[in-house]
Amino acid sequence: MEALYGGAMHRRVTILDLASAKKRGEKWIMLTAYEQMSAEIFDEAGTPVLLVGDSAGNNFLGFENTIPVTVDELIPLTRAVVRASHQAMVIADLPFGSYETSPEQALATSTRFFKEAGAMGVKLEGAHVKTIEKLVGSGIPVMGHVGLTPQALHQLGGYKVQGRNDGDAIVEAALAIEKAGAFAIVLELMTADLAARITAALTIPTIGIGAGINCDAQVLVWTDLMGITKNPPKLAKAYRNLRAEMLAATNEFSQDVKNGNFPGPEQIFN
Ligand code: KIV
Repeated sequence: MEALYGGAMHRRVTILDLASAKKRGEKWIMLTAYEQMSAEIFDEAGTPVLLVGDSAGNNFLGFENTIPVTVDELIPLTRAVVRASHQAMVIADLPFGSYETSPEQALATSTRFFKEAGAMGVKLEGAHVKTIEKLVGSGIPVMGHVGLTPQALHQLGGYKVQGRNDGDAIVEAALAIEKAGAFAIVLELMTADLAARITAALTIPTIGIGAGINCDAQVLVWTDLMGITKNPPKLAKAYRNLRAEMLAATNEFSQDVKNGNFPGPEQIFN
């Protein structure tokens, strides 16, 4: 099996590649993407998994959190990310209200993401065991998500670190998700010890976000990674300050236009 990194992949990453990476102890990254340009760049960089997260809600669509996001809003974003990438496995996040009613509802929603957008897997929050079994049995790879599950924000009482008192229940949920057939699981905002415990207990890869160093992979929301987000969460690290760059570029353009310096000779046609 090819390494996830260290060579151009001439095909999409699959769940088998991710399973092999766990066996080899090779760590990898997942990034969110919501449109063409960022997806193209992350794919070119060899990012094995792109998540069209419902975090599009508060990073792309202008909502306060992920709860209002709909399937109809996420499908065109997923389609754009699939079209713009060639190597990454593209996962569609099932938004709040689109899968909890029944396994049949989850299958109908996932089918839309597969047929209308070309998604290669779906992610859903919580230990919906019967639903995961149904999806996997229907040929749909499922990524689980435990710990801080932002769609349950109001039930959890805010964005609070999970697992300080209920660690055993989260381990049980993760084990149940694996048993139901999920190929990977996101561990969000939990104590590092708990994430390490879950990672050791599971055979599927764990993908941490605010879950310490001992996960098999790490995920970041791309606007946090690039320093665009105005008030980034503490769990994120900005590797660049694109917000400042973009502000500066916008101001320079404005000044150039005001001063008559744009368009210059290179941008003028005779
Ligand atoms: O929607 C999202 O961006 C996510 C990641 C934080 C895993 O669910």
